[in-house]
Amino acid sequence: MRVPFKKNITLLTLMICLHISLISGQDKLPQIQLEKNQVSTAYVETKIDSIIAVLTLEEKIGLTHAQSKFSTKGVSRLGIPEVWMSDGPHGVREEILWDDWGEADWTNDAITAFPALTCLAASFNPELSGEYGFSLGEEARYRKKDVLLGPGVNIYRTPFNGRNFEYLGEDPFLASTMVVPYVKGVQKNGVAACVKHYVLNNQEHLRDKINVEVSDRALYEIYLPAFKAAVQKGKVWSLMGAYNKFRGQYTTHHKVLNKILKKDWGFDGVVISDWGSAHNTKEAALYGLDMEMGTGTDGLGVSKKDNYNYYHLANPFLKAIKKGELSEDLLDDKVRRVLRLMYRTNLNPNRVLGKLNNKEHHKVARKVGTEGIVLLKNEDAFFPIKDKKGVTIAVIGENATRNMTRGGGSSQLKPKFEVSPLEGLKARYKNATIIHTMGFESGASAYNATLPPTLNQDSLFVKAIEVAKKADIVLFIGGLNKSYHQDTEGGDRKVFELPYGQEKLLNGIHDVNKEIGFLLVSGNAVEMPWTSKTKGILQTWYLGSMAGHSIADIVSGDVNPSGKLPFSFPKKLNDNAAHSFGEISYPGNGINQFYKEGILVGYRWFDTKKIEPQYAFGYGLSYSKFELNNIRINQKKYTTNDKIKLTLDVSNIGNSDGSEVVQVYIGKHKSKVKRALKELKGFKKINLIKGDKKTVTISIDTASLAYYNTDISNWSVEKGTYYLYVGNASNNITKKIKFNLF
Ligand code: GLC
Repeated sequence: MRVPFKKNITLLTLMICLHISLISGQDKLPQIQLEKNQVSTAYVETKIDSIIAVLTLEEKIGLTHAQSKFSTKGVSRLGIPEVWMSDGPHGVREEILWDDWGEADWTNDAITAFPALTCLAASFNPELSGEYGFSLGEEARYRKKDVLLGPGVNIYRTPFNGRNFEYLGEDPFLASTMVVPYVKGVQKNGVAACVKHYVLNNQEHLRDKINVEVSDRALYEIYLPAFKAAVQKGKVWSLMGAYNKFRGQYTTHHKVLNKILKKDWGFDGVVISDWGSAHNTKEAALYGLDMEMGTGTDGLGVSKKDNYNYYHLANPFLKAIKKGELSEDLLDDKVRRVLRLMYRTNLNPNRVLGKLNNKEHHKVARKVGTEGIVLLKNEDAFFPIKDKKGVTIAVIGENATRNMTRGGGSSQLKPKFEVSPLEGLKARYKNATIIHTMGFESGASAYNATLPPTLNQDSLFVKAIEVAKKADIVLFIGGLNKSYHQDTEGGDRKVFELPYGQEKLLNGIHDVNKEIGFLLVSGNAVEMPWTSKTKGILQTWYLGSMAGHSIADIVSGDVNPSGKLPFSFPKKLNDNAAHSFGEISYPGNGINQFYKEGILVGYRWFDTKKIEPQYAFGYGLSYSKFELNNIRINQKKYTTNDKIKLTLDVSNIGNSDGSEVVQVYIGKHKSKVKRALKELKGFKKINLIKGDKKTVTISIDTASLAYYNTDISNWSVEKGTYYLYVGNASNNITKKIKFNLF
């Protein structure tokens, strides 16, 4: 950005005096307070120039790699601070030891655990995502973290991916729309968000070595958009490389991915490796890695104390520069990015103060949970359940009481408190009688799924049937549990059905009581041949600190469910695209993996192959009923650089206040390239009191209808006929409207 002449002089004087003061041996940065209006890009860049000019080579190198598990060195001689980072996407992780993964057992690091990001995605509420990010950023700020290692936006390709619960679902438009306010919210606190894992880390199986082969169309149309939105719209200050390879090169320092990120998209932040995802000094230097974390140097280091000097961007990089094998300019660019991150965070004197565990954060956590829960089935208006004297509710299942903020891997948390589903229901139901029995026990601890159950499974089963027999209503609280192979990092699921004999138990209960509501606690789809054994089904995610209250809000009808599925539930595993092409497609052959479904991920596959899912993307019921009427677009013909304006009336014709999510999908008729039948291009969540009607408008740029044209390695908007589909689920379309692009 050009600086006006007068200001130039000021800056020049400033630089000279700054330079003089620096080289005059003073070991401190001159305390030039960045007045509010001075924290301009030009000003900061000038300051960075002057700092780089006085740093030694070793000091520069020190800024580009870890000094501990979760921090990098500053420059103590000049008062340049260390950079401290922490997981994760759903809350600030407990303090970890300096040099290893052990917990530091601090007594001041308990936090608010927010719902997992699949729940946030299910809310289809971008404003709420902003509140989520801001609250989480406040907690990271209070915990003195400069970088929050989240959000994760890897696309949901297979129901087996152990980390799907950490991400925003199967659709690039939904993920792109929800990630931007989250990033902005976090960064309003002067804490850098770190969008991850860039890119194609869509499974945990062999994540650190699998080489992903995928078409350019799928890469650009499905797997990159959420990262691009975080960078270009969210202005994210850091990004984490992934473990896996892409076309034979590690993604953390990848020639093509670096060009896309830093040249094409203009990313001006810091690329941080995943922990141990850097493999090579030359590639790390040349292809965009700016901060190397977690490299396993035990094999290289001669002792614990100097392992960090063996990092690829440490001594080996230093030596290569000194020998002239690598240019110091490469290092200066990394240092510039790191210093820029500092001016946005720990060198920004205008940074707000943080807050921790306050009522506002609890309110946001509860709201996200309540808005994200999805009502999948509600036969005979099973839900909501009235709180009536004389009614006995049996709450059965280990997940009614299991602590779900533990486990799951790096996103696990140490919450100040966690209200279990049972506690939440007991707090809400003052008149009804609630009886709880475990029903089944996984035996799995947060870290170890192979522990034998401590209780006798048969006696648990018998007890559960007894309790169910005496109850008026049964709430079966089951699902997965974030133990190994059950929704966790580092290990994909191995079976699609419910674990721990839950289906057998459900059948047993159904034999003695038909009034069963199933609450599915999971971050993934599961096989559901048992839906006929239930009257009601709620998808209740991993909901964090306020889990029990969010669940009670919905079960009691205090809040009308409005969540919509952010990913499809296949009836059978092989109905899913990734599982339709054999091992080479998922989980790969141990070396390579081919995303043979291309762009047809999720509902794109189900629509195009005409496979009926168990539950569709965008699906979710309400206690009320909504009508979409008077649906129209403003023209029949548009240029390829126009705005389509959709208008419709949404009416709440049911008996309770609630919210509906209007979804707009668009598909090209007779395209010259392979395309999905339709793709989500717009949505809006409408709150309506019962009997009310609102007119809603959604505008869609025709440029967003482009496909990635591999002939020109760029985007193309195809002219011709399109169809616009409006509905409240990908498989529940109210109106289809034809239009043309010319
Ligand atoms: C893990 C995860 C990453 C996390 C990092 C630090 O391996 O892949 O998401 O932020 O290491 O814990």
